[in-house]
Amino acid sequence: MRIPLIAGNWKMNTTVAEAEKLASSLRDILDKIEGIEKVLCPPFISLTTLSEVLQGSSVKLGAQNMYFEARGAYTGEISPLMLKGLVEFVILGHSERRSYFGETDELVNKKVQVALDFGLKPILCVGERLEENEAGKTEQVITRQLKGSLANIEPGIDLVIAYEPIWAIGTGKAADGITAATTIKFIRDTLANLWDSDAAQKVRLLYGGSVTGNNIAEFVSQPEIDGALVGGASLKTNEFSSIVGQSVAIKRQGT
Ligand code: 13P
Repeated sequence: MRIPLIAGNWKMNTTVAEAEKLASSLRDILDKIEGIEKVLCPPFISLTTLSEVLQGSSVKLGAQNMYFEARGAYTGEISPLMLKGLVEFVILGHSERRSYFGETDELVNKKVQVALDFGLKPILCVGERLEENEAGKTEQVITRQLKGSLANIEPGIDLVIAYEPIWAIGTGKAADGITAATTIKFIRDTLANLWDSDAAQKVRLLYGGSVTGNNIAEFVSQPEIDGALVGGASLKTNEFSSIVGQSVAIKRQGT
């Protein structure tokens, strides 16, 4: 059985003081919800403060990005060595990193490899652009991203993959549950081809893109979808707690 997971990607939002306040209020509510992994991914500069806020809590921390070298002359970058012990998860290959900062599958692949070497769990993001979707190229794009980002990665790893169609991110136009589940099943089949079916079954597959408390049920009621990577709605205590609460309730009904 895969444990459901809801992760909040705060992106470039919250000052340290705001992050501390948001994490404290989330902690108090989310600690009462069991049977699901809850992960907050604040900006780098809030990680130390939040690791103190979340001490003894079941709420976990993730980073939003990471460089692939452990140390050195890489001005402005954050290394896996710095993140080790501070976070359990790291988001890699988010579409905003790919489109605004030129990240390629090859670069993401290096980051995935190094994250695993340092004992960090990658949340690898894949997803197609609107024009690729409209041209019927979703599966082609996702196959390329998976093969590229997971090249030479051994099967059996503790990996999370988020399917985030770019046209659904921050637009208020989420994919519908069935479409998301179809693509997510395709991702699992691709992993089974790349590795083997056992290794593919271990990977948690999330949906991301305009997830809210109003539509989360549509996604997590699909057996193929193990949870969600939430952007905007993860910045609101009530909304994010509702997403987590509904997810665990629905997944419990399904077992
Ligand atoms: P929104 O939930 O704001 O659409 O963002 C999704 C996302 O990019 C999470 O990584």
